Amino acid sequence: MSITLPKRLAFEQEGFSLTPDLLREVFVQARPFGHHEDAKTLNLGFGFLYYGLVRVLRPQHVLVIGSGYGFSVVCLALGLKDNGKGQLSFIDPSYSLLKNGPFKTIGGVGFWDDPDRVRAHFRRFGVEELVTHYKKRSDEFFPTYGELGLPPIDVAFIDGSHAYKDVRYDFLQVLARARKNTYIFLHDTNIYIREILQHAGVKKWLATLRRQPELFEIVDFPFSSGVALVRVRQAQAAKQFRP
Ligand SMILES: C[S@@+](CC[C@H](N)C(=O)[O-])C[C@H]1O[C@@H](n2cnc3c(N)ncnc32)[C@H](O)[C@@H]1O
Repeated sequence: MSITLPKRLAFEQEGFSLTPDLLREVFVQARPFGHHEDAKTLNLGFGFLYYGLVRVLRPQHVLVIGSGYGFSVVCLALGLKDNGKGQLSFIDPSYSLLKNGPFKTIGGVGFWDDPDRVRAHFRRFGVEELVTHYKKRSDEFFPTYGELGLPPIDVAFIDGSHAYKDVRYDFLQVLARARKNTYIFLHDTNIYIREILQHAGVKKWLATLRRQPELFEIVDFPFSSGVALVRVRQAQAAKQFRP
């Protein structure tokens, strides 16, 4: 049996994004940390999951909360680019560990201060038209969601403040704008010492989600800093969730 393929796909005209040169650029400029990556073999680790999930789901709207140098944003946006559709909202107040201290951010370097530099950064990967950066904390951003006229969230990536109350807030805000089969990544599910010191609460929040399996399907990848992927199983899940 032979399969029929369209003559020329949109991405063939531009080239498939994940070339070795682009992967090198991602390692050098978007500087992954804690994503089970391996620079020597150009293995993006979880980055391939982020890209792959977007290729599979073909989302309209991806939302990212927090990123040091944009690794998650770039991997997700490259998926949108190669799909030929979709937009990404990126929320980060550009905290820096030096300026704002360890209780506001771990790994933040004030990288998102200047809008021209932010745009130039995403241009390196050809995704500057797809990414809109909001230089705000998530609790400043979500109250403006309606005025911004943004669509529901199909895929989210939560990696801002890791304090339990903030992870809880970010998840609940995403859930309120989710649909059935929205997928939500939670980064840093495997940082035991910070969890024990109560400096991070991602794993603890996952335990809360596990108590309502009728609402959430969860798979955790406990490698490197760890990432979990949560599928929202019902429409209006926010109304039924009792955290
Ligand atoms: C480096 S990243 C990811 C955290 C890192 N993986 C870790 O281990 O803590 C942290 C980013 O989250 C951002 N951030 C901190 N608090 C935030 C908040 N309330 N809303 C959105 N982004 C936030 C910081 O500005 C920083 O750029």
